[in-house]
Amino acid sequence: MAALSVDELVGRDEWDHVIVTQRRPFVVYKFAATLDGRIAAQDGTSQWITSAESRAEVHLLRAGCDATVVGSGTQQADNPNLAVRGNDDPRLDLSIVDDPERQPLRVVIDSNAKTPRDANVCNDAAPTLIVVAEDADSAHLDGVVDVLRVERAGRGLDLRAVLAGLLERGVRAVFLEGGPTLAGSFIAQGLVDRVVNYVAPALLGSGKSGLEDAGIRSMSDILRLELVHVARSGSDVRLVSRPVR
Ligand SMILES: NC(=O)c1ccc[n+]([C@@H]2O[C@H](COP(=O)([O-])OP(=O)(O)OC[C@H]3O[C@@H](n4cnc5c(N)ncnc54)[C@H](OP(=O)(O)O)[C@@H]3O)[C@@H](O)[C@H]2O)c1
Repeated sequence: MAALSVDELVGRDEWDHVIVTQRRPFVVYKFAATLDGRIAAQDGTSQWITSAESRAEVHLLRAGCDATVVGSGTQQADNPNLAVRGNDDPRLDLSIVDDPERQPLRVVIDSNAKTPRDANVCNDAAPTLIVVAEDADSAHLDGVVDVLRVERAGRGLDLRAVLAGLLERGVRAVFLEGGPTLAGSFIAQGLVDRVVNYVAPALLGSGKSGLEDAGIRSMSDILRLELVHVARSGSDVRLVSRPVR
């Protein structure tokens, strides 16, 4: 099977259809898991499940979308930077790395504004938007990052309102990097258009799985995905799939 381009991996030719018909950005959910579907160990550590090649490729996929999104749980557990950083893959346009204005928007979905002003995601490597609830006290973020306020709903914030706010800011495609609680809400609401899944030949046996509570209780409700592409990525396997709707 021929290698896919970054545009093909992030489904660029499907973006417009979703934007026009659903009035929201296209959403690519990426996660890295063990063979038994774990994305973190029981003690919460998750670095690094997959190979250096796969991690480098993730920077390409980030650069191929307009915003990189994580939940507040991931922000607190991993303190991720989320900027596109240099790697050895010749497909990465390094001018993105050197120019914060060309970096994808970093987004934390953080109802109660728990992201500290000195979090890595608040550094000057790329623009950042923290999405908080209408009643959240985000004074500590003033002058540090942009803040978007949306209404609360379900397990946190109203995700359709979050996506509408991102579309208004020119975000046509979101690269959702988890974690499993936030991704579960996206899946439950039919807001994921593509899944890019790196599977490492490793086992953990306990710890969080790639998705927590996506509203699926019975086999009759199982969400089937259509496999778009499968390939090796370093010592891992990369699977690209899309929900069958
Ligand atoms: N291997 C991987 O690919 C990978 C990737 C990412 C994360 N991880 C791991 O995943 C773990 C963190 O995941 P997590 O599940 O605890 O946290 P998470 O999914 O990153 O964040 C969940 C939090 O997001 C906020 N949120 C806001 N609106 C929401 C909504 N509508 N639905 C759901 N959540 C919403 C809620 O907190 P508030 O109420 O505070 O807003 C919620 O508790 C860490 O161990 C991290 O290392 C692994």
